Amino acid sequence: MTQPTPAPGSVALVTGGTGGFGRALATKLRALDVTVVLADLDSDRNRQVAADLDSQFVALDVTDRAANETVVAQIEAEHGRLDAAYLNAGISAAKSDDALDMDEFMKVVAIDLFGVVYGVEAARPVIRRAGGGAMVVTASLAGLSPMAGDPGYSVAKGGAIAFVRSMAPRLARENITISAICPGFADTAIIDRIRDQFTAASFPVLTADEVADAMVMAWTSAEPGAAYVIQPGVGTIPYKFKGVPSAKTATGETAVVPETLRPPSMR
Ligand SMILES: NC(=O)c1ccc[n+]([C@@H]2O[C@H](COP(=O)([O-])OP(=O)(O)OC[C@H]3O[C@@H](n4cnc5c(N)ncnc54)[C@H](O)[C@@H]3O)[C@@H](O)[C@H]2O)c1
Repeated sequence: MTQPTPAPGSVALVTGGTGGFGRALATKLRALDVTVVLADLDSDRNRQVAADLDSQFVALDVTDRAANETVVAQIEAEHGRLDAAYLNAGISAAKSDDALDMDEFMKVVAIDLFGVVYGVEAARPVIRRAGGGAMVVTASLAGLSPMAGDPGYSVAKGGAIAFVRSMAPRLARENITISAICPGFADTAIIDRIRDQFTAASFPVLTADEVADAMVMAWTSAEPGAAYVIQPGVGTIPYKFKGVPSAKTATGETAVVPETLRPPSMR
């Protein structure tokens, strides 16, 4: 079945936009006549990458809550709208030994989890004013299957998936679909430290292009709150969450959480 594509002339923000997934995504979105704003740490290299992709560059450190607001306000002022926010910036730990490096742990969580939360907070009113749209969070398979070598990354990505699922109903009421993509290892700079080990073991890794296809799909076709697993040789599939046992009443019936404890979107 052919997937719907974003409308030409729509506007997308991509954080971590000059990295591997961001570049592959920008290429696809520009081919669809989407206006692309790549937000990333400020450097000559990153500015040049955006220019080469016929995309706008904005300097953004996603851990700066106020700066997230400034960037989306600037996009709305300049382009009149924001239709999609790709909250994609991320890092992983620089090493994987048995010590728990708390400084590094906090840094990874600040970027990979709080960077997403601030991005959602900032983009929400602007996408709502555009009549609705999409937020796509680049989580990771590590958020569903924690990595023993990187606790901070696992916590941040698991938290990002939980955040997406928790926010989905209220955003859906505003015509905003939020979803997460959860790629396995993919060939970008983030795996530079460990790429040789994959090669030596003939372990398959995704291309950035395969992941970017899933990111485009998530804009137009995601289910609210869904987490899409992407794995080499498997493709993109929605992860089936198992759920948890419900509480039982004294008579053995399934207990229903009181309506007043649910957000308006769930009543
Ligand atoms: N490549 C993989 O194997 C893989 C797998 C699953 C998930 N991911 C996730 O995909 C996302 C994109 O990563 P990638 O694979 O393209 O790697 P990448 O290293 O090429 O890109 C990451 C980008 O994030 C930017 N960034 C880092 N800190 C930032 C900050 N504080 N503010 C703004 N931008 C910041 C970097 O400058 C870089 O451009 C990340 O969230 C990563 O965790 C990657």
